[in-house]
Amino acid sequence: MRIRTETKSDYKQVFNLNYDAFGNRDDEAKLVERIRFSNGFIAELSLVAEDKGEIVGHLLLSKAKVIQETNEKEVLVLAPIAVKPTAQNKGIGSKLMKEGLKKAKSLGYGIVLLIGHSTYYPKFGFQPARNHGLELTQFSVEDDVFMVYELKKGELKKTNGELRYPPAFFS
Ligand SMILES: CC(C)(COP(=O)(O)OP(=O)(O)OC[C@H]1O[C@@H](n2cnc3c(N)ncnc32)[C@H](O)[C@@H]1OP(=O)(O)O)[C@@H](O)C(=O)NCCC(=O)NCCS
Repeated sequence: MRIRTETKSDYKQVFNLNYDAFGNRDDEAKLVERIRFSNGFIAELSLVAEDKGEIVGHLLLSKAKVIQETNEKEVLVLAPIAVKPTAQNKGIGSKLMKEGLKKAKSLGYGIVLLIGHSTYYPKFGFQPARNHGLELTQFSVEDDVFMVYELKKGELKKTNGELRYPPAFFS
């Protein structure tokens, strides 16, 4: 199994993977397609896990903004992450997470935000974002599922305000 950057020839498999992983619904698969066609897409941060020629996992990090009064700061949001149902609980999601965060850091980004399972992401270092002066109003979510990860030391202190997901997140 290896983690690599997604290529155009993976798109169909990535769609099917997201469809299967999210319980036979296409919301996340379509979200991936909308992000790819938006200016928030960063090709290097769309990662796949490939096992014997088959795509068994996918993770996407893309651009969003944190806004405070007239200040705008570019940040990354993680969504979605998916592992093929029959390949779950074998560490593939963890490998995608670690590689995604490493790559994002190497590209110079400061923080990553997400809405996700409150028990899954803390093991990678994610913390509740509202405790760090970050807010979310576009989606109504509990404090523990809105999370942040600091890629660059000191960046969390410098980033306060409301996370705004771009239009691609709204169908
Ligand atoms: C979440 C997901 C990406 C994890 O991938 P994975 O390859 O199974 O994860 P790993 O093998 O690295 O880690 C397994 C751990 O994650 C936990 N886990 C899996 N799904 C979870 C979930 N929905 N909520 C909380 N924890 C979860 C497992 O209990 C296991 O915990 P342990 O390490 O303490 O035993 C995968 O389960 C998946 O695709 N789920 C469906 C889609 C989804 O919900 N995506 C996330 C949206 S926020």
